[in-house]
This record gives sequence, C-alpha cells and structure tokens, in this order.
Amino acid sequence: MSTTTALSRRGFTKLLGAGAAFAALRPALSFSDPEPSAANTAEQPAGVVRLSSNENPYGPSPAALKAMTAAFGLAWRYPDESQDQLGEALAKLNQVSAKQILLGAGSGEILKVAVAAFTGAEKKLVVGDPTFEAAASHAKASHAEVVKVKLNSSYGHDLAKMVDVAGTGLVYVCNPNNPTASITPKAELRSFLAKVPRQTMVLVDEAYHHFVESPDYESVIPLTKDYPNLIVARTFSKIYGMAGLRCGYCVAQPENIELMRAQQSWDSISIMAIAAARASLEDNAQVEQGRSKNTEVRKYVCDELDKLKFTYIPSHANFMMIDMRREVKPLIAAFRDRKVQVGRLFPPLPNFMRVTIGTKPQMERFVAAFKEVAAA
Ligand SMILES: Cc1ncc(COP(=O)(O)O)c(C=O)c1O
Repeated sequence: MSTTTALSRRGFTKLLGAGAAFAALRPALSFSDPEPSAANTAEQPAGVVRLSSNENPYGPSPAALKAMTAAFGLAWRYPDESQDQLGEALAKLNQVSAKQILLGAGSGEILKVAVAAFTGAEKKLVVGDPTFEAAASHAKASHAEVVKVKLNSSYGHDLAKMVDVAGTGLVYVCNPNNPTASITPKAELRSFLAKVPRQTMVLVDEAYHHFVESPDYESVIPLTKDYPNLIVARTFSKIYGMAGLRCGYCVAQPENIELMRAQQSWDSISIMAIAAARASLEDNAQVEQGRSKNTEVRKYVCDELDKLKFTYIPSHANFMMIDMRREVKPLIAAFRDRKVQVGRLFPPLPNFMRVTIGTKPQMERFVAAFKEVAAA
C-alpha cells in the first residue's frame, strides 16, 4: 500500500504540474515535493502558453490530487457506489434530492444527452449566436433544426426572440456565455422561464458560474423545483481545474433526469474523476481563491488593454473577448507564431479574439505578444 502510494504520488505530481502551481499558491495544502513537469512549462519562456480552451491553469485542488492517489486502489471497480456518493454530495450542495442529479463525463456529456433526449426532426434546438457550439453540433445526430438567435447589444441572450420560435424542443442558454463571457441578467432569465411553454425544455449551462461576481447574475438551480422543464448543467472542468478528468452534472426534475440517463453510456464517469470531484467539493478555498485570482489577473489584462486603447466585452468568466478592430483569423496565427495559443474564430464576431485568463506570468507573455501583434 505504501509503495503504491509513493509511486502514485510521483506519477501524479509529474502529470499534474499545474496542480503543483496551485499548491504553491496555497502552501498550507501542499502535495508532496512538486517537480517541474511538462504540464507547467506553459509558465516558462520557451514553452507555449495555452490560452485557447478556458482551462484552469492552477489545476485540481491538492485535496483532489490526494483523493485520486488514494483511489488508485479502487481502479479495478466499477464506479457504482462512488457515483451514488458524489450524487448525494451534489444533491446536498444544491439542496435537491439525489434523483435530481445526473452525472456526466464532463458537462459536455450532459449537453449531448439533453439534445438527444429533447430535440428531433420535429423538435428544434434554439441557441444564442455566438455561443458554445457543442449543443448545436450534437443536434445533427437528432436531425433537429438549429435556430440561432443573435445575442443582444449587451451580448446577453435575446430571450424574447428565443422564446418565440415555434416547434422548439430545447432552448440552450449559456450563462455566462462562451465565447463572450457576458451574462444574461437574472431578471430576464426569470421572466423567460415564466413564459416558456412547459413542453419546451430549457438547458441553462452554468459551466462558468463560479467566476461570476455580478449581482445581476444568479444560478437557476433553485428554480428547478418550480420549472419541470428546466435543466441546469455544471462542470468540474473550470473552477475545479479538472478538464482532463471529465466530470460534470446537471440538476433537473427526476423524470427528465431519467430521459437523459436513457441516452447515456453506463458508467461513463471514471472513478478517479469522481474521487477528485468529491474531494473538490470539500475545498471551498479552491473556489474562493480561483475566483479572486482570476479576477485579479483579468484586471491586469484589462488595464493593459485600456492603456493600449483596445476595447473588450466586460468579462464575467475566466476568458474574455477583445475587439481587435480587424479580422482575427490572421491574428490568431500571429499569436501562434509567438507561442501563444488564443481561442478559435467565432464567425458572428469576426474581429473579436477570445483569450483565456491564465496565470499572471502567462498573461504577461500574452500582453507582450499582443503589443507586437497589434503594432504589426
Ligand atoms: C459553456 C461550456 N459548456 C460546457 C463545456 C464543456 O465542458 P466539460 O465537458 O469539460 O464540462 C464548455 C467547455 O469549454 C463550455 O465552455
């Protein structure tokens, strides 16, 4: 047992150097002797800085790393009991019953099964434009028509238009929205939910929930008790730094949970991801520090952009959209040449560039590259 633990630890610290970076941020929660690794070379001048996928550069909680180490011994088991325990913990956290929780291999799996369950040839999918593309992409498999509704002038969802589409099976509302990092205000979302016909399902994707500090925003998880047609998706990939582990979930009423479960592979979530997720839920400091660090580093980037007289969409998440004032496609390549990976093109906003908020040293690299690219 002790040999396994020692080996496992070495393996994990190698694999999860970004987690070591987080341990350095919070020395009280140290995970033994972090070594430099491939995963954190993004911090080093010679490496590539990846700011393209809205990942969390601080990595998983040290408590999650420890829990995974301990869970190595359970790798031979199917995750049945572990899933139940995580489901119970999430039910408690969200003040719902365990029957109202469905776990997924990332919230991406939740999006997929929701689209499979609630759209079809006669049931359209309505999405914002631009928004996270996964739901629309999965709609192809359901032969569902995708109706794209342009974001409003504040880059929020135009819910008045989204509610008006006849023959809708599912409305996807991403809040905060990827790629714009904008929020749809809570009052608008509440009045939309009150208007949507009960036979139309609403999927609110709160992947970036933990980064929001605005009083105009609220999670709609508590409203799942009032609206049988509401599903709210969350993920462990963002604030919890577990994108590579694949764990997410949704909250909805039990009948809809069962309809989605019927579309899902059995046992799709690994026992390691579950162990890490359970431990993460106990680590409130990770959420608090992740949010405040993100806000602080994002402010640094905003201040630099202000000095350079570039504008951007006010961000409520761990990424932001910068108005480059010219076509962004060649600029993405220019950043790549400087070993800085920024986000992909979002066709409705061809002059905007999405950049993930990394660590301060990463964003200093970004700002240096930005000065060169913008001046070119
Ligand atoms: C808005 C949104 N939802 C869902 C996801 C999927 O995340 P995951 O499957 O890792 O939970 C992402 C990933 O970037 C996202 O931006």
